Amino acid sequence: MNPQDLLDQDPLKTFESWFKEAEASGKLREPRAMALATLSPDGRPHNRIVLFKDLSDEGVTFYTNYDSQKGKDLSANPFCEVVFYWDPLGKQVRISGSVQKTSRETSEAYWATRPRESQLSQHVSRQSTPVESREQMIEAVEKARRDFANKEIPLPENWGGYLLIPSHVELWIADPARLHDRFVFSKFKDGWTSARLHP
Ligand SMILES: Cc1cc2nc3c(=O)[nH]c(=O)nc-3n(C[C@H](O)[C@H](O)[C@H](O)COP(=O)(O)O)c2cc1C
Repeated sequence: MNPQDLLDQDPLKTFESWFKEAEASGKLREPRAMALATLSPDGRPHNRIVLFKDLSDEGVTFYTNYDSQKGKDLSANPFCEVVFYWDPLGKQVRISGSVQKTSRETSEAYWATRPRESQLSQHVSRQSTPVESREQMIEAVEKARRDFANKEIPLPENWGGYLLIPSHVELWIADPARLHDRFVFSKFKDGWTSARLHP
């Protein structure tokens, strides 16, 4: 069977339903965990886990520190790929495309929902730069706690979201006999073209 007979024409709809299935399984500590691959300014790959925040008509959002290594990579090369693997489901999803920062209003709205402890640690974090000790980090958090006592903690200038605008999506389904199903989707105009690949 071809992808069009098995799956939704829109691979992001399938992604959404698989994600819900992963969440509902109760078998995953972090169903939102996705590996994010970026390219440094000198063409070296970097990969790390970040949390998927949401999917909208525009794309996939995640949040981070804009001054981090990934932030530097994305400002030099505004393209990335994310990959989810939900082992209990035997499913993998890869999504790649261009990225842009989310609007300040979008980041502020999400920031406001974050627990205060997370806001405090993000405020003092100089993500991806050296820090002398754990004690130094704790001290910085305690200082911020005093500074912001009875006050709202503002969204740091260097923290916010990225929107990944998907141009390619791959959906992979494990087969017990190892003849896995693998479908690739490429965006064109308002729709998607699809093909089955050898696994
Ligand atoms: C389960 C898990 C979730 C994570 N979520 C995030 C996240 O949403 N945003 C983030 O900036 N880092 C997150 N991290 C930390 C990143 O993996 C990484 O260490 C950090 O962002 C620095 O990466 P960089 O130096 O390549 O920019 C998470 C790590 C794990 C293991």
